[in-house]
Amino acid sequence: MRCRSVTRNVYDGEMGSEVSRYDQVADWYVEFTRSWGSEARTLLPEHLLGQRLLDMACGHGALSRVLARSGAVVTAIDLSSSLLAHATQKESTDRLGICYLCADATTTDWWDGNPFDGVVCNMALMDIDDLDAALSTVSAVLKRGGWFSFSLLHPCFPGGHDGSTDALPSWPPDRGYSSEGWWTTGSDGVRGHVGANHRKLSTYLNAVLQAGFDFVEFAEPASVVPRYFTARCRQRT
Ligand SMILES: C[S@@+](CC[C@H](N)C(=O)[O-])C[C@H]1O[C@@H](n2cnc3c(N)ncnc32)[C@H](O)[C@@H]1O
Repeated sequence: MRCRSVTRNVYDGEMGSEVSRYDQVADWYVEFTRSWGSEARTLLPEHLLGQRLLDMACGHGALSRVLARSGAVVTAIDLSSSLLAHATQKESTDRLGICYLCADATTTDWWDGNPFDGVVCNMALMDIDDLDAALSTVSAVLKRGGWFSFSLLHPCFPGGHDGSTDALPSWPPDRGYSSEGWWTTGSDGVRGHVGANHRKLSTYLNAVLQAGFDFVEFAEPASVVPRYFTARCRQRT
C-alpha cells in the first residue's frame, strides 16, 4: 500500500469542529500513556509473522510497533495528524516498515483494496463517534474469516467513585448506565481531556455481531474493578 495522507473532518456540533480531538492534546497524551501497555495484546494471536494487519485508530503507534516487531506487515490509521507525527518520527529513527495513514476509520476511502488478515483496535472504539461505520470498515477490509481484536474502557462502571479502587469511569453517575452519549469526566485523565462516547456493553457486543463477527474470547484484565474489556472475534464466513 502506498502511504498517503487522507484527512477528513468528521466532528461537528456539540462535539467540537476540529479534525481530531487528539490533535490538541497529542503531546500530553504521548507523555501520559508512555508507561501503558496495550490492552488488546492480551487477545492477539500468538503468531503474527507475515500477517497483514491493520491497527485501527493507532494513535502514536505504540501497538503498531509491537505488531511490526512480531513480524507483521502493519498499516496503521488514525484521525490525529499530531499523534501520527509522533508515530512517524519514531518510524524515521527506528524503521519497522509501518505504513501510517492519516485517515478516518469510519470510511474505506484510504484503503487500497488489499485485504488484511487481522484488525486490531486498542482503546479507541469509545473515541470513534460512528461505531457501526467503524465496524463496517473492519468487515470490509478483512480477508474472509479474518480476525478482529479490540479493547475498550470497560463500559460498565460509573465515574464519581470514592477513590478506593482504580476504576476508570465510563459513564456519569447522574445520567445512569443506560444513557448513552458523549461525556467528559472533567478529571486529569484521557477522558477529562478528550471525553468519550459511553455505550452499554450490550451495544458494543450487538454491533459487533451485526457487523458479521462471531466472538472467540473475552477478557477483563485483573484489577479490583475491571478497567478494560477486551474481545477477540472472527469474521463469519
Ligand atoms: C485513546 S486513543 C488510542 C490510540 C491507540 N490505539 C493507543 O492504544 O494508544 C483513541 C484514538 O482514536 C482515534 N480516533 C478517533 N476517531 C477516529 C476515527 N474516526 N478514525 C480514526 N481514528 C480515530 C483518535 O485520534 C485517537 O488516536
